[in-house]
Amino acid sequence: MKNFLSIKSLSKEDLDHLIVLARKFKNGDIGLYSKKSKHVLKLFLEPSTRTALSFEIACKNLGVNFSILDLEDSSLTKGESILETLKNVHALGFEAAIIRIKEEGILADIADTLDISLINAGEGKIEHPSQALLDAITINDEFKGLNGLKIGIIGDINHSRVASSNVDLLSKFDSEVRVFQPSEFGELNDQKYKPEDVDSIYKNSDVVMVLRNQYERHQNIDVSKDQYLEKYGLNIKRLQNLKKGSIVMHPGPFNRGVEICDEVLTHDKCRFYKQVENGVYARMAILKEVLNG
Ligand code: CP
Repeated sequence: MKNFLSIKSLSKEDLDHLIVLARKFKNGDIGLYSKKSKHVLKLFLEPSTRTALSFEIACKNLGVNFSILDLEDSSLTKGESILETLKNVHALGFEAAIIRIKEEGILADIADTLDISLINAGEGKIEHPSQALLDAITINDEFKGLNGLKIGIIGDINHSRVASSNVDLLSKFDSEVRVFQPSEFGELNDQKYKPEDVDSIYKNSDVVMVLRNQYERHQNIDVSKDQYLEKYGLNIKRLQNLKKGSIVMHPGPFNRGVEICDEVLTHDKCRFYKQVENGVYARMAILKEVLNG
């Protein structure tokens, strides 16, 4: 695999392979090994905690050399294009660049013209493939597969690259994915979704994925934080009525008291920190494939 850019470009077999590989790393079936000759660069043009640190830990676990180029210290601030930056990065000896970027489509446009491998660590509103992979690993661990499940995704769907990549991934398996977006965020952009009742999704899903309200991507949201929790969030009443055996996921960072109540965090259905932990193994699997063993 030269690049890891989108879930759409991966087959179900590719995904199964990555999930199995991640599990082997998690179980210690593949020992840590040294790829000291490999150099990987992190170039994040948007903020991150989980993705940034888990790629760093994943590289270190694999024995891969990990470097960071901060936007403000780079010649991108002098107007150098990302394409030219990456050509120079490759000339310096880097095999792969892990990139988070707001602009959509650039990575796919430039990937084929570059010798360096690109790993998408979050792209605008459209792609977060490594998040979808770690979510799939979390669901797979719980239910021993990704088929026959009811999965509900609730929140700011139109602005969510997590929702987009998760829907792309889960639609390759035989599970039912339902989404709900509050009317205050407008109509769903993707017409393939039908209107759903939020409480029906909470009550009937095996997996409930709650999304962060992305306040930074909105001018104004016409619902207060308290009202949001009451109308749409995972509040105590909804938490008590979740389906037996179900789990709750959130990609983080979460807005406490908005899309989730505090009580979720200590509830036995909560998998938020398990998702973060699985992020390391998911990213080890991605790096191993991209760096070619
Ligand atoms: N889930 C996620 O992408 O979190 P970060 O923005 O902290 O990386």
